[in-house]
Amino acid sequence: MLPKINPTTTQAWILLKKHFDEEMNHIHIKDLFKKEEDRFHQFSLWFNDILFDYSKNIISHKTLNLLLGLAEDCKLKEAIAAMFDGEKINETENRAVLHTALRNFSGNPVFLDGEDIMPDVRRVQQQMKSFAEKIHSGKWKGYTGKKIKYIVNIGIGGSDLGPVMVTEALKPYWIEGIQPYFVSNVDGTHIAETLKKVTPEETLFLIASKTFTTQETMTNAHTAREWFLKSAKNESEIAKHFVALSTNEKEVTKFGIDPKNMFEFWDWVGGRYSLWSAIGLSIVLTVGYENFEQLLRGAYHTDEYFKTEKLDKNIPVIMALIGLWYTNFFGTQTEVILPYDQYMHRFSAYFQQGNMESNGKSVDRKGAGVSYSTGPVIWGEPGTNGQHAFYQLIHQGTVIIPADFIAPAISHNPIGDHHNKLLSNFFAQTEALMNGKTEEVVKAELEQQGKSAEEIKKITPFKVFEGNRPTNSFLLKEITPYSLGSLIALYEHKIFTQGIIWNIFSFDQWGVELGKQLAGNILPELEDDKTVTSHDSSTNGLINAYKKLRKE
Ligand code: F6P
Repeated sequence: MLPKINPTTTQAWILLKKHFDEEMNHIHIKDLFKKEEDRFHQFSLWFNDILFDYSKNIISHKTLNLLLGLAEDCKLKEAIAAMFDGEKINETENRAVLHTALRNFSGNPVFLDGEDIMPDVRRVQQQMKSFAEKIHSGKWKGYTGKKIKYIVNIGIGGSDLGPVMVTEALKPYWIEGIQPYFVSNVDGTHIAETLKKVTPEETLFLIASKTFTTQETMTNAHTAREWFLKSAKNESEIAKHFVALSTNEKEVTKFGIDPKNMFEFWDWVGGRYSLWSAIGLSIVLTVGYENFEQLLRGAYHTDEYFKTEKLDKNIPVIMALIGLWYTNFFGTQTEVILPYDQYMHRFSAYFQQGNMESNGKSVDRKGAGVSYSTGPVIWGEPGTNGQHAFYQLIHQGTVIIPADFIAPAISHNPIGDHHNKLLSNFFAQTEALMNGKTEEVVKAELEQQGKSAEEIKKITPFKVFEGNRPTNSFLLKEITPYSLGSLIALYEHKIFTQGIIWNIFSFDQWGVELGKQLAGNILPELEDDKTVTSHDSSTNGLINAYKKLRKE
């Protein structure tokens, strides 16, 4: 059981509030650097080849100590142990949270209800490995005897975003002769456009769904099945082209997939934490099992580090505490993730689900409404594209948006001076966000440009910006399967830590259910010509307009 402590009632929270009001609310990061020349060393940590620099934040040693006190007061250490020990910390679904077992290379058992789950984990990993070998070697053949060339993963949310993000991030590791595609949206366009690029004889469909009941996935899966059968003609050929990644054998069988072509996972793997499980089969097929294992190993080492490192040197804990400092004391509402690596272009989208589905909660672990902010809005795009789109608001807008900058030191594509240019932007942005531009500097620049006194007076206010915009920088040696695995796990544990302190349940997602239920009610109403009157006037109006428009 997790502790159920309202964080605002702790001594640490009260002290943090006072510290914020009296000492930190109007402090400038620039001045913190002036006071403490060694600030970078004081506020940065290495984990393997990952440097985490959190010095450009509006924090002092006192802030951190108080935040660490908050983590202690909220029993973070006990909560970490409860998760790794397989306690049913997802109380509203009565489930354990053990995605960490999927990357457990310690050789130690992981017990759930008195049973070691590791043999099952290893069995499925072995199944994934030998299946991938058959696909890659051409031993597994399509119905006309051809080798499989195209992988189409059909899934949504956690059964899509992780594999998409990882396969994109690891494009330099793609196995020759395999082309993955991902279909998630129930919009027919998504599957239609994908099917144009593949052939029935050479395509393997992975139907990825924890529940195997998700409307979008099952609709796309049935469309793929019909498309395939139009060519193959014979249902017995389905076994060569469709496999399932699921926890639900009954539904998999009902769909017509042989259970021996099912890659199993379990209810203790949350959807948004499932890329490490059988849901990662598309990753295995795209980059090979060895690289997948490296991804798992990177995450495993982060797990061990998270579990054992002292809280004040523990990167995910520091990430979480800094985020919470802004959310709960500065009143920020969003956080931006900015990878300076084109291959990482889905990283922010991935953690949009990771964060927002986990910590987008307003009821605490006792079932009462919270009186404080919880999960922020997460967004982002790769640099430098973002710089030419939305950074203006981060620099000069009226809201503070804490930003995470992520970059590799070594590029997979070292062409000319591209990487130095990219990284010069990476360094420049956090510097600019911190320092801003003072009136004196603006005026001096304008004078140098030969502007008149009148022009200088007119233009100066628009060019001044105060800076003091907080950032974290992650500098990785290189994006490899191992370092990516480590980085993902750091972010996962950040989310966990925040959920613990916010006293919410991070591993359920009841909020997405209502929309699903209502869509289920509305679908039959769209299938005839009758005027709909069963909803509010707006919903009725929209549905009836839709029916009219599609007839005209
Ligand atoms: O959107 C809600 C959700 O349940 C996610 O948590 C999950 O990742 C996604 O739907 C897909 O679910 P499934 O894997 O069961 O198809």
